[in-house]
Amino acid sequence: MTSAKRIVLSSDHAAIALRQAIAAHVAGKGWEVVDIGPTTPESTPYPQHGEAAARRVASGDCDLGIILCGTGQGIMMAANKVKGIRCGVCSDTFSARMIRMHNDANMLSLGARVVGEGLALEIVDAFLEATFEGGRHATRVAMIDVLEG
Ligand code: RB5
Repeated sequence: MTSAKRIVLSSDHAAIALRQAIAAHVAGKGWEVVDIGPTTPESTPYPQHGEAAARRVASGDCDLGIILCGTGQGIMMAANKVKGIRCGVCSDTFSARMIRMHNDANMLSLGARVVGEGLALEIVDAFLEATFEGGRHATRVAMIDVLEG
């Protein structure tokens, strides 16, 4: 029996409720969820939460990560500054599937002010159920790694 895969979740203040709904949903699918908050509603800067989640993935402590802010954009930009992170913002299931299949994304970002809970959960499922195709896509992902230095 293989052990459960670990997934880290984080957000800023704009996305706490959606993050917690996703945490429950993903745990129900058998993932070990590492929810690093925040849990209180005070305004808090998205870069620090994006970085904290990204470091869990980049270090290998977690296999994948899901991060959220109001638009999903700012926290995605912060996460992508951490070496080894490939994070995309998705507001549709096609993109969520494709960033795994073609880009080997290891983090998904969502905008809590953009998508409702029902769509967000479908996007999360599409992301988690897809697998990287490798082949010519691996060559292209390796070119992204080169850009990181
Ligand atoms: C916070 O108001 C908002 O700027 C933040 O959640 C996010 O949308 C930034 O990209």
